[in-house]
Amino acid sequence: MTITNEGARAQIGVTGLAVMGSNIARNLARHGHTVALHNRSIAKTDALIAEHGGDGDFVRTETVEEFVAALQKPRRVLIMVKAGDPTDAVIEELAAAMEPGDIIIDGGNALYTDTIRREASLRERGLHFVGAGISGGEEGALNGPSIMPGGPKESYEALGPLLESIAAQVDGTPCCTHIGPDGSGHFVKMVHNGIEYADMQLIGEAYNLFRDALGYDADKIAEVFTEWNSGDLESYLVEITAEVLKQKDAKTGKALVDVIVDAAEQKGTGRWTVKSALDLGVPVTGIAEAVFARALSGSREQRKAAVGLASGQLADKPADAAQFTEDIRQALYASKVVAYAQGFDQIAAGSAEYDWDLHPADLATIWRGGCIIRARFLNRIKDAYDENPTLPSLILAPYFRDAIETAIDSWRRVVSTATLLGIPVPAFASSLSYYDALRAERLPAALTQGQRDFFGAHTYERTDAEGKFHTLWSGDRSEVQA
Ligand code: 6PG
Repeated sequence: MTITNEGARAQIGVTGLAVMGSNIARNLARHGHTVALHNRSIAKTDALIAEHGGDGDFVRTETVEEFVAALQKPRRVLIMVKAGDPTDAVIEELAAAMEPGDIIIDGGNALYTDTIRREASLRERGLHFVGAGISGGEEGALNGPSIMPGGPKESYEALGPLLESIAAQVDGTPCCTHIGPDGSGHFVKMVHNGIEYADMQLIGEAYNLFRDALGYDADKIAEVFTEWNSGDLESYLVEITAEVLKQKDAKTGKALVDVIVDAAEQKGTGRWTVKSALDLGVPVTGIAEAVFARALSGSREQRKAAVGLASGQLADKPADAAQFTEDIRQALYASKVVAYAQGFDQIAAGSAEYDWDLHPADLATIWRGGCIIRARFLNRIKDAYDENPTLPSLILAPYFRDAIETAIDSWRRVVSTATLLGIPVPAFASSLSYYDALRAERLPAALTQGQRDFFGAHTYERTDAEGKFHTLWSGDRSEVQA
């Protein structure tokens, strides 16, 4: 098929016009770009034009051929469809109609290994494939998301200015930068979502403590979160926590949070983060606890059967509510630092594994605005990595080291009090254990090595000599060099 470029006036095309796609298209149009629109069913395209045509210059197209023909070269098409098979089908249709040098951008939450595969296959056909993580939900898509585009560097030249124009801006800097080759954009977005899970779980544990340890109602807890949002914990997630807690249910007049079923769902990005971390050998304990906590909350039958199991002797509620509130705030901050530290470790490991040359300071920069995990303390993370791009752990940056030193007693009190009250705090507790393990001079892993050598002759290293050793456990128990 020959495609003429006559009348091609759109700078970018968006296909897949559900809420995210529509809002990105509107955001592009509002920034003066001519946007070609395409959707499997034309009704969505027409609805978008009817309701929001005033946002800017849209080109209505019905078929993929018409859509592609409406685009200026190099053609740029943003796919906003459900991750998985639908993405492959749309890519194939587009690729068949596009020409070498054109750019296909996948703005969905695709699995990064799929993105690596798609990029390689389109590269062979001369097309650029950009897997772009886009964070910020529906509102961010419309008013300024954080955008994490991977793919070939050259494609960013044609694409970057356009994406940067619609991204959130913080201190005049767009929350969008070229992340690195092939699947790196989606990898980074995946870890972003893992951190999002950990952050949400930690906030949930703080809420649970206020409710069950201090007996606060939702309104009172909302007040605490509102106050926290004017300090070090200032972040989008803390802000919306207060909003959710304040919301009243129209039907019952109760706090909405008290009538919502306590079973958290997930679409998969948190789980992917943990799977990838397992493969990379990076302990992302905070993220893993968050994913498992959602799974446990969803085991509704099992939970119902377990209600009433022995709690043992429980301690009295904390006597000093103000002190305990401050303790929870400190525990939340410290655990959050651990979650980010682990996420950045995973990014460093992914970067090394795939040879992506990722820059942690750049990621902290583009996460300061637009995305779900945007938070005041990302400025501090950016500073830490600007100062030392090869920090062995974020926890070791002077600012965070001091912050944890300030928080540590509170953190221990929260975990021990929760345990004595029988209140689950998996993410607070595992983050604290991670911290204690990281700073330990000696871990029980020496015993593990001894056991492995005992039953499987797996060998061990010695603290005082080079090489591998084995003890003849079933012989005379002398040691031999392996
Ligand atoms: C974002 C969000 C977004 C999505 C989550 C929800 O960055 O804008 O992360 O991508 O809302 O993936 O994930 P779950 O349904 O798994 O909670």
